[in-house]
Amino acid sequence: MLFRVARSRSGEKISHYDLYKVDVKKGMTVLDALFQIQNYMDPSLSFRYSCRGAVCGSCAMLINKVPRLACRTQILELADTKVKLKPFLALTEAPLGWNPESEVLVEPLPNLPILKDLIVDMAPFFDALKQLELWVVPKEGTEPRKQSPEERKLIDRYVNCILCGLCYGSCPVNAEHKEYLGPAALAKSWRFYQDTRIEERERYLQAALAPNGAPLCDLVMNCVRVCPKDVAPGGAIRRIKQSGSS
Ligand code: SF4
Ligand code: FES
Repeated sequence: MLFRVARSRSGEKISHYDLYKVDVKKGMTVLDALFQIQNYMDPSLSFRYSCRGAVCGSCAMLINKVPRLACRTQILELADTKVKLKPFLALTEAPLGWNPESEVLVEPLPNLPILKDLIVDMAPFFDALKQLELWVVPKEGTEPRKQSPEERKLIDRYVNCILCGLCYGSCPVNAEHKEYLGPAALAKSWRFYQDTRIEERERYLQAALAPNGAPLCDLVMNCVRVCPKDVAPGGAIRRIKQSGSS
């Protein structure tokens, strides 16, 4: 099978696409194909990975114009896994000659600066978490904080976030507004706001309601469709918006 892979040696923008013929076997993922290319055809191809098991979030990229984890994407199932997303430039602009029926297109995750080939700079994504101070400062001498199963249920889906950035790369608002904090950071702030063990929960809600936070979200829901862990950031953002207007 042919793989059309975006290249950028000096970063910033895609400079060209290289075409590779990959020997695809049943069970192979897109990450496996990238290894085959790097090991046997082109050692200069750069991409990021770590766990190979959909846990670390490092291998997020754009595959056939859908943000996905390369290690979780089965090549032979790609044709059957259509994901309908609200389009924006990175998702609609296709390279000349790409034939979606016979070639797999692999590009860097949109909305983040390209460092080299398929590697993007995740700094803007992580800066949003810093900006919202999405952590808890432990207080000295406090008793263990208990939580009932019902209380824990409130944060269940949000704690599963692996910080892969797929939601950030799928979001048309992130594409247009560099200052937008993005879906993952907002979902995480809702997670802290809903955590009954935390005393100053209100500060997380207020932080998420900053002008470059939930108010900028158009509830497009691409983030919900691409999230590999069913975190569904869009639902959290909707609740943040509702809490802010009540
Ligand atoms: S919310 Fe989902 S898509 Fe976004 S960073 Fe977390 S796991 Fe990835
Ligand atoms: S390599 Fe860790 S999520 Fe893909």
